[in-house]
This record gives sequence, structure tokens and C-alpha cells, in this order.
Amino acid sequence: AQAATTVKIDTAKPGPVIDKDVYGQFAEHLGSGIYGGMWVGPQSKIPNTRGWRNDVIGALKKLHVPLVRWPGGCFADEYHWREGIGPRNKRPVKVNTNWGGVEENNAVGTHEFFDLVEQIGADAYVNGNLGTGSPQEMSEWLEYMTSDSKSSLADLRRKNGRDKPFKVAYFAVGNEAWGCGGNMKPEYYSSLYRQTVSFLKTPPGQRPKLVASGGNDNDGSWTEELSKSAKHMTDGISFHYYTIPTGKWEVKGAATGFPADEWFSTLQATMRMEDHISKNAAILDKNDPEKKLGFYVDEWGTWYDVEKGTNAGFLYQQNTLRDAVVAALNFNIFHAHADRVRMTNIAQMVNVLQAMVLTDKEKMLLTPTYHAYEMYVPFQGATTLPLSLEGNRNFSSGGKSIPQVSASAARGKDGKVYVALVNTNPNEAEEVSIAGVGEGKASARVLTAAAMDAHNTFAKPDAVKPAPIDVQSSGGKLTVKMPAKSVVVVAVGG
Ligand code: AHR
Repeated sequence: AQAATTVKIDTAKPGPVIDKDVYGQFAEHLGSGIYGGMWVGPQSKIPNTRGWRNDVIGALKKLHVPLVRWPGGCFADEYHWREGIGPRNKRPVKVNTNWGGVEENNAVGTHEFFDLVEQIGADAYVNGNLGTGSPQEMSEWLEYMTSDSKSSLADLRRKNGRDKPFKVAYFAVGNEAWGCGGNMKPEYYSSLYRQTVSFLKTPPGQRPKLVASGGNDNDGSWTEELSKSAKHMTDGISFHYYTIPTGKWEVKGAATGFPADEWFSTLQATMRMEDHISKNAAILDKNDPEKKLGFYVDEWGTWYDVEKGTNAGFLYQQNTLRDAVVAALNFNIFHAHADRVRMTNIAQMVNVLQAMVLTDKEKMLLTPTYHAYEMYVPFQGATTLPLSLEGNRNFSSGGKSIPQVSASAARGKDGKVYVALVNTNPNEAEEVSIAGVGEGKASARVLTAAAMDAHNTFAKPDAVKPAPIDVQSSGGKLTVKMPAKSVVVVAVGG
């Protein structure tokens, strides 16, 4: 008999809501992530609205991007907001010391960023500069953005073209304080965080969620320290974890043309997100049993060797079916931890690392990762439903294994039940039955391809895209024949 996995869903015991911000994105001043990829300036021949590319904005709107984090990343800790306001031709030109040593002309600053998020329909996540900034600089930036008073800073914002305050949904104090943000120890950062936050004042109703910059990978010490000593002054603690195929920063592995064992090692590395979140969630449960704090995975995604012939500081990489599978595995992990993981940002939105969109001058393409985000849109704000997997085999390689099927389920805001499935095995199909949701009307879409590194190019932009897939209904169950290496989202009811 053909191998089969059964996903048993309990619709009577709804769990926590998946915060829409779990589907947030990250846009840093890095390579062509902003300049060229999104911002072309109002004078460009590339169709744009006040400098932002219409094609890219249109694509992002379809993803219902809920949140965009800006201006970094490492860039944030050297960014001085006053250099990015006022007439663009008078703004200072700096060196982007983190990313390629290129010139940063500050054409995109606070007003341009808020125009971007407002065009997309997203909320703003602003990352403050703790590394080379000061509490004064951060507090004045917040006042500039959020004050409706007649203060000089609020008036300066008005003079620069914005009457009403901007809405800042999240504000972070520094980034990767353990590394590019200042090479600090958790205790030292925690003291600086407490000091800084004491001066971050906003008008009533304008207070952003405050983010304490936390740890990465396997290190729980930041979550431990911050959840003890800064709990009363923060809404969440951030965390970064990147998927690197070889596990080594020096030679990370290629985005395309990779060997079969790197398909496996990439997915296996991705699955470690589960361990990292569980470990940190256990620390939070100890120090914050009332679940005040969110665990914000505000950087994640694949990180490969850069494409040959591109600037090593620009982190430009192709994006294949493997990336879509990585994204979907992460989504399923985030859903399983919806009580704590209330916000994440994939790194990054355009042309950098695991991007949604790649551009080449006036050309644009949507990546397989884009399609994974689009398929999962119904999970934004949906209510998780507990599930168990029966008969789930392992997919093994080189003596190591990961589960063949990953799944998550939720009731969407439209009342339908959505079931997301990933078949991690690149060689074998899997018949997956869904029990507990009845035999109602069901439809499904699949994202798959013949090759592990199938990807979209400017010549063939639709090589990898979702397609409908059959759902059989009988004996109280729904059944989908998942192709090898695929992502499927089933919608039931409605
Ligand atoms: O996303 C690229 C970089 O990765 C970010 O700037 C930094 O925070 C992290 O190390």
C-alpha cells in the first residue's frame, strides 16, 4: 500500500490567534534591497509613485504584508535619522560601512519609508540606533514621528510635508547588540535598554510596541536576562536565526545547483528553528508565566553564498523551490508557537537574502518564497487548531532524519479551515489524509517543481508558481496526493 500520513485536526479546541505580524518583512539599506529594488526616485523612467516602484509595490500589496522593519539590521546602529529628512538634494552622503562600503545618499529617510509602508498598506517597525546613537536621538526621533503637538520637532515634520503623526507600530532599541550592534554582553545591553526606554515617550495611544534586541541561534542568555530585568519595560524580545546549508559562514552553500545532501541539510537546519523557539519559550514561561512578552523572530531566512559576479556586501542570492519549502516549514513552526511568536520578519523583502522579489533594472520577478507567502495569507489573524500526525515517516539522508510531512491548521477570519502541508522529501510523493474537518467543500493549491533548485528568471518568471491540486473526499476524510518536495494549502468549507 502507498505510504500515507493522516493529519488529525481538533476543530473543537481552538488555540491562540496567529498574529498577522508573523508575516512581517525586513527592508534594510543593503545592496539593492531598497535603492533600485524598490526606490528608484520620482524622476525615474521606471513607473513609480513618489519614487517607489509601482510593480514591486503592487506585488507586495498582494501579499498583504502586515509589517515592514527598517532601516536595519546592522545599518540601524549607524543610522542618524536627521540625515534622512528635508530636501533630498541637501542630505549628507555617507558610507554604508556594513554593506559593501557603497555611498548612502539618504534619499530614503523617515518620510519616504512611511510613504512606502502606507502605499503597501503595512505597519511600520522602526529600528532605533543604540550603537552610535543616544537616548536623546532616539527619543527625538519618536517625538518627530508621533507628536501631534506644536513642538519644534512636530513642526519640523510638518514643514517636511507630513501634518499628522506617523504610526509607529514597533520600535526596537538597537539590533544584534551581541555583534554588529556593539559587541555587548546581555547584562550591559539590558542596562542600556532600560535607560533608553525611560526616555522613549509618546503621546497617549501612539506608543509603539517596544522591542528589546535579543539573542541568536542556540544562545538563550539574552532571553534569560531581558525577560528578567527588562520585562516591565518591553513588549517583546527579538531573536535571529538564519538557515545556512553547510552550517558554516565561510562557505555557506549555493542558492542553485546545490547537491542533494544540501537540500536535506538546509531543511534540517530550518527545523532547528523549532528547538530554538522551544528553548526560548521555556525561558519566557519561567520568567513571564503570564505571557506578557512576545518572542519576535525579526530576522530569519536562508543565507547562501552570494551569486557569482555580484558585490559580496549586497547579499544577493537566487531563490528556489527549496526556499519556498524553508519558508513554509518556518510558518508551520511559528503557528505552533503562536502564543509567543507574535511577530517575525523574513530577511529580506527585495533582492537581499531570501527575498520575495528580485529586480534587474526595470524587470521584476516573483520568487518561490513570494508564492509561499501568498499561499499562507489566510493564516494571518487566523485561529490555530491543534493537530496530530499519524503514520508520518522520516525523510532520511546521510544517517540523519527529519519528518517527511510538516503541517499546521487554523480557522481563517473567513470561517474556513486552512491546512498547510509540506512534503520535505525531494524524491517521494506522499498521500496525506486530513481528518476532523468533515467532508465539506475543499480546494487546494500546490507549489512544486521538477528540480530541487527550480526557480524563476527574468526570461521565465512563471517557472515556479502555485497550481490547483485535487482534494478527494471520502470516509469522513479529505485526501491530497502531495508531490515530492511540495507545499500545499487546503481550504475547507465556506
Ligand atoms: O539581514 C542581514 C544582516 O543580518 C542584518 O543586518 C543583521 O542584523 C544580521 O546579521
